[in-house]
Amino acid sequence: MRLPLLLNLVACCFFSSTVFPQTKTIPLETKRHALVLRVSDQKDVHICYLGKRLHQIGEYETIQDVYKQATDYTGLLNSAYTPSGSRNLAEPAISVTHADGNQSLDLRYVSHETQQLADGISLLEITLKDPVYPFEVRLFYKAYFDDDVVEQWSQIKHQERGTVTLHKFASANLHLKANAYWLRQYYGDWAREMQPEEERLTHGIKVLDSKLGTRAHLFQPPVFMVSLDRPATEREGEVLLGSLQWSGNFRTDLELDPQNNLRIISGVNNYASDYSIEKGEVFTTPIFMYTFSAQGKGLASRNLHNWARNHKLLDGNGQRLTLLNNWEATYFDFNEEKLKDLLKDTKKLGVDLFLLDDGWFANKYPRNGDTAGLGDWEENRSKLPNGISTLVKEASANGVKFGIWIEPEMVNPKSELYETHPDWVIKQPNRDEYYFRNQLVLDLSNPQVQDFVFGVVDDLFTKNPDLAYIKWDCNAVIYNAYSAHLNNQSHLYIEYVRGLYKVLERVRSKYPTVPMMLCSGGGGRVDYAALQYFTEYWPSDNTDPMERIFIQWENSYFYPAIASANHVTDWGKQPIKFRTDVAMMGKLGFDIVVDHLNDNDLKFCQNAVQTYNGIKEIIWHGDQYRLTHPRENSVASMLFVDKAKDNGVMFAYLVNNRYDEGSHLPIRLEGLDPERRYRISEINLYPGTSSPIAHEQVYSGDFLMKIGFNPQVRKGRESVILQMEAE
Ligand code: GLA
Repeated sequence: MRLPLLLNLVACCFFSSTVFPQTKTIPLETKRHALVLRVSDQKDVHICYLGKRLHQIGEYETIQDVYKQATDYTGLLNSAYTPSGSRNLAEPAISVTHADGNQSLDLRYVSHETQQLADGISLLEITLKDPVYPFEVRLFYKAYFDDDVVEQWSQIKHQERGTVTLHKFASANLHLKANAYWLRQYYGDWAREMQPEEERLTHGIKVLDSKLGTRAHLFQPPVFMVSLDRPATEREGEVLLGSLQWSGNFRTDLELDPQNNLRIISGVNNYASDYSIEKGEVFTTPIFMYTFSAQGKGLASRNLHNWARNHKLLDGNGQRLTLLNNWEATYFDFNEEKLKDLLKDTKKLGVDLFLLDDGWFANKYPRNGDTAGLGDWEENRSKLPNGISTLVKEASANGVKFGIWIEPEMVNPKSELYETHPDWVIKQPNRDEYYFRNQLVLDLSNPQVQDFVFGVVDDLFTKNPDLAYIKWDCNAVIYNAYSAHLNNQSHLYIEYVRGLYKVLERVRSKYPTVPMMLCSGGGGRVDYAALQYFTEYWPSDNTDPMERIFIQWENSYFYPAIASANHVTDWGKQPIKFRTDVAMMGKLGFDIVVDHLNDNDLKFCQNAVQTYNGIKEIIWHGDQYRLTHPRENSVASMLFVDKAKDNGVMFAYLVNNRYDEGSHLPIRLEGLDPERRYRISEINLYPGTSSPIAHEQVYSGDFLMKIGFNPQVRKGRESVILQMEAE
């Protein structure tokens, strides 16, 4: 049996230090990591350790000894949930105005308990109370033992006479000790998602945040990494990967304090979001999650992938559908005849499903471009006189499934929906409308709008029970934030996201398994709260395979490959093999005009789909190893190995086209069984080409991991896929 008992272990001790004459230590352990909380004699709850797990649980109690004795002032810097307006002067996790107008808050330990929720999953709950006001905060720490993942959130409640206003209400407040810290963060925009920047943190506060409301992660996703002492590599170094599970405005403060400790405070962005709670009302924050690894970013990401597939991502251990999408093949210009041809092409290609994209709906203001029709979800009669149901039937007659695009949270001002329900739209009553992609956002804080949005999905499934896939888009941010429904405008950003989750809950309770793609003009909305309802996400509209190598690479630190929807399109100048190879490093789809492919390209694509079907299990459910990073090498290389270490698939690409660049040296593999012997062969070759890699050669896992293997990537062989099969 594993050792979850350690998670339960709560050590109370009498401690000899004069600073802490009587303390309680609360260790929270996972397989390789520990978070140790401590209750001081003042009943303040501190984080006294976050890092590698110790062998001896008793030694956590001595940690405080080895640090310089804390003064009252610094002692408050490592609070487990920093209140404001009393003894703390650092960036708070929580700040409030009490019902009587007082702005001070102090939080002291009351009790804690640990429950074992399942094998390897525990929940620690700590209750804190203000000694003066009837105000309470509960801190929750859910630990996933095997994956070294901790989820944290808080619940805030009061019994004051009147309303309390929350000005800041973080999910988590971490405290790290090291000599130096390196932050890897991301910025982006449409078609350039997940651009990394890594820098040493200096004293003061670095803030990562979003104020976009919807499509909230367009400029900055909530994911980040912090390396301790030195920048972690794939295989070495201490590193924490963290993110907020929230599909709206977020804010993460990284404060390097005067004692060189790093405080990470993460939660919903409090920008324009003062939140009022009445007596007895419970405010629950979203979850902040992190994983800690002392063996580099590679292990951290594999832990996250395992955790995501087992506990978060919808159907994480299940199957996915390969598909043909018509967005780039037709844009808005199609009719029933054209689509019927595309259904035949879907079959010809050998993929599982045809995905009908934008443009199929609206009559008074037909959706023939992105300026009209959004919100009017009836089939456009001139394009589809016989409706969607005919196409769904036609698809099954062709032996393929049918999926459809929707963007149900949005409305074009040129639409019947806007004309009928102007009060359902987020916009300032007394200001000019301001558009993002010619559209506005519906007010999901309003239950009637929630019913409408749920109805869009429900109607489609009711009329077409065989509908097999939804692409759920979200292409605008919130400008002019104002709800005609809410009394308290500063609740809008939060109630919007809660409304969205309510709709998605309803969709999932009625249609629990149908695959859905989370799309937001690309990666404008990817996080683990949303991914509970979705089977996959769309990393970027940019499908130039060279760009996708970089975007998919950075996403792969945080999200497993099974969730990454990758389509082969006409973006980029690379040959079809390069484009397809890159798309295979996740969930494969196509968005090309099959009819325009020459014979060899078509044959290649058909074979590639078959090849992919043979290796997809390894990619979707195996372990992922980033062997050579595209920003640091001329050849980028990614490896997937199945859990039994029987099979591996290695992808390698030339990402630097300068003279004589390529793999002159072998690339060292990872994750194989050193004792077993592997046969290596090149797969997914273009018709008429042959591989310089000798098929009959067999290598030990030990050799491949210590010496490596040269995929011989070079000009003319820019993209190579190798398969390893254990004998
Ligand atoms: C967004 C999506 C695209 C496509 C269009 C349709 O931009 O990211 O894939 O669906 O909307 O309008």
